[in-house]
Amino acid sequence: MDAKNFVEERIAEIKSTVGEGRAISALSGGVDSSACTVLAHRAIGQNLKSIFIDDGLMRENEPQDVQRIFGDLGIKVDIVDAGSEFFKTLKGKDDPEEKRKAFRNTFYSVFGREVKKSVSRFLIQGTIKADIIETEGGIKTQHNILEQIGIDPEEGYGFKVIEPVKDLFKPQVREVAAEVGLPEEISQRMPFPGPGLATRIVGEVTEERVALLRKATVIVEDEIAVLKPFQAFAVLLSDKGTGIVESEREFGDIIIVRSVESQDAMTAQPTQVPWDILMKVTERITTELPKVVRVAYELTPKPPATIEYV
Ligand code: XMP
Repeated sequence: MDAKNFVEERIAEIKSTVGEGRAISALSGGVDSSACTVLAHRAIGQNLKSIFIDDGLMRENEPQDVQRIFGDLGIKVDIVDAGSEFFKTLKGKDDPEEKRKAFRNTFYSVFGREVKKSVSRFLIQGTIKADIIETEGGIKTQHNILEQIGIDPEEGYGFKVIEPVKDLFKPQVREVAAEVGLPEEISQRMPFPGPGLATRIVGEVTEERVALLRKATVIVEDEIAVLKPFQAFAVLLSDKGTGIVESEREFGDIIIVRSVESQDAMTAQPTQVPWDILMKVTERITTELPKVVRVAYELTPKPPATIEYV
């Protein structure tokens, strides 16, 4: 792929599709939606409204960081605070696909509302090829895949979807992101799933459980960053284990540390994390998060496991 040509072609395509109309971009701060947002901004300028839905399932400071990075590029990002809607819809659900579907429906209803408010008729989205292949293959329900699974977004939600990077895999999207001038902080960013920390919580997703996982995530990302893994993160299990907290037996939480190496996320191998790093992660998690009494490192490649847990 010639990234420069690709960028020019997509900009021209977005321009001709949207015309004088308005479009809204579903920006998550990941490399896919970030590249798409810059492409669309170049194509239609002020007629693009970039929205970051804060679903309450993001990592520490993520909404503010994204707003700042895009602000530096001259692109204004509106944060829509929708956390309570997502927690309401996820309440009581522990089945993975039910959680994904609940997330997807809420995501589109919040977004549909914003699109209508902004009189946009088009939604720019960062769907990539792996998302489409895996959803068509029945491996999972991605949240951003309406058209591919036969749901008409115009009929159901009132807008048309434009997916500028849907024919690319992740490494090519990174090239496009660099080509359009996004900083490395974004172009080389680890993938983070649309449904956010919900894909790393086994069992019910509650505000309290997300808060715990968010803190564990900071520790894992910090400590494993030196290895530059494809993805590294924490997972909260629904099982519990016995531990000792302040000399008392405590039936506490279990955190799984997962770090993988991959090219395109279709297959993955566990990172060979040095023992001292694993021990440091374990010590920090159990000290900084006393409710967690056990930490384990995940060794399963994809396949048979997926990268995320839900
Ligand atoms: P899995 O867990 O299926 O993940 O092996 C493959 C890659 O996709 C990311 N992922 C998602 N990305 N929406 C996304 O935008 C999703 O629903 C979703 N689920 C998984 C995951 O982080 C990994 O990079």
